[in-house]
Amino acid sequence: MDVGELIGDHRLWEAIEACRGVRITPGHLKRLADRFGPELARFASTQPALQLSAKRKFAGADQMLFERGALEMATHEAVSAWRASQFPEGVLVTDLTCGIGGDLIAFCRRGSAVGFDLNPDAVHLARHNLAALGLQGEVHVGDALQHLDVLQYGFIDPARRNPNGRITSIGEYLPDPRLVFSELKGARRFAAKLSPMVPDAELRSLGKAVDFIGHENQCKEALVWTGSEVEPRPYRAVDVDTGETLTETDPPPTVTAARGIIAEAKPAAIRAHALGHFAAEALGDTPGYLTADTIAPSPWLKRFEVLVDHAADVTRTRAALRAHGGGTPVVKSRAKIDVEKLQRDLGGPGEELVILVYANGPKLRHAVCRLLEG
Ligand SMILES: C[S@@+](CC[C@H](N)C(=O)[O-])C[C@H]1O[C@@H](n2cnc3c(N)ncnc32)[C@H](O)[C@@H]1O
Repeated sequence: MDVGELIGDHRLWEAIEACRGVRITPGHLKRLADRFGPELARFASTQPALQLSAKRKFAGADQMLFERGALEMATHEAVSAWRASQFPEGVLVTDLTCGIGGDLIAFCRRGSAVGFDLNPDAVHLARHNLAALGLQGEVHVGDALQHLDVLQYGFIDPARRNPNGRITSIGEYLPDPRLVFSELKGARRFAAKLSPMVPDAELRSLGKAVDFIGHENQCKEALVWTGSEVEPRPYRAVDVDTGETLTETDPPPTVTAARGIIAEAKPAAIRAHALGHFAAEALGDTPGYLTADTIAPSPWLKRFEVLVDHAADVTRTRAALRAHGGGTPVVKSRAKIDVEKLQRDLGGPGEELVILVYANGPKLRHAVCRLLEG
């Protein structure tokens, strides 16, 4: 029985409800199999746990159906809604690799959309998920590469060749985005979702513009744009939670010791090389910390008042912590150190202060700080 038949079985939701809130043991699965048949029982038994973990991404997860690998690859709805908003009103958007529908749902919410995927199970799940959310949109089994010459507005979220590895090159995707971009004949606005770990040279050579998408204080993706309606532009950081954007700047000058304030920038701003906006200098040589006598509040920054700043030395740092009423600190480090060990070594009763560890070449420094509001 394929996933389409399982979804079409009128007893599916009864079987899912029979698994909700229950620890699925072999005995429970056998009783379910006796009642619903083995395949429906197996499929239904996976759904409550998948729906629960899908709530992190989809508000309507309880009505949706999933497969674990495809759920892990699915885009969070806050990100997909922002992406969909970047396409003009009223145009048909084609999602070339729709999976279980994470992005396709958002495209259908904004207007007409069609999805393709090579995997028939994913297509069945995406069809169900659209219908369950009251959305209209076609979903077909198909190869992304077959639809490129007629497409005007579209999106691709390619699969990873090695699903468990960190992607550090465009060549690790299926289908290869370079092939996709080269075959687009009449595209007006087209985007590819790639890992932000892909190097600048590869991202810049692929398309006309790149957005680094921030969500929940992480840089989630590099979104590479091409097409006749896309103007070439510098990198842009986009925070989908606040709607804030920042464009690429020249890098700020670097200093080797902290001044009155240290600010930690959000990862999307760091990745978009947009740290020149804050009238501050880069601290040390690990990107992301800025310092100045004062730094204005910004939705892109977490700011810290610097109480003490010195070469890394646990004894001195413990004394400085205690002198400022500090207890077991929060340790933040962009240098490669054992953060938990340092936290244990410095621990004691008192106010929660923050130790920022930063590097100047091989030398580390400790800044004892207090988190500022706003
Ligand atoms: C990262 S997932 C897409 C996730 C989707 N954007 C979401 O939010 O749910 C990639 C999908 O690409 C599909 N795929 C891989 N190669 C393909 C191809 N040549 N044509 C169509 N789909 C393909 C895979 O089956 C997989 O479902």
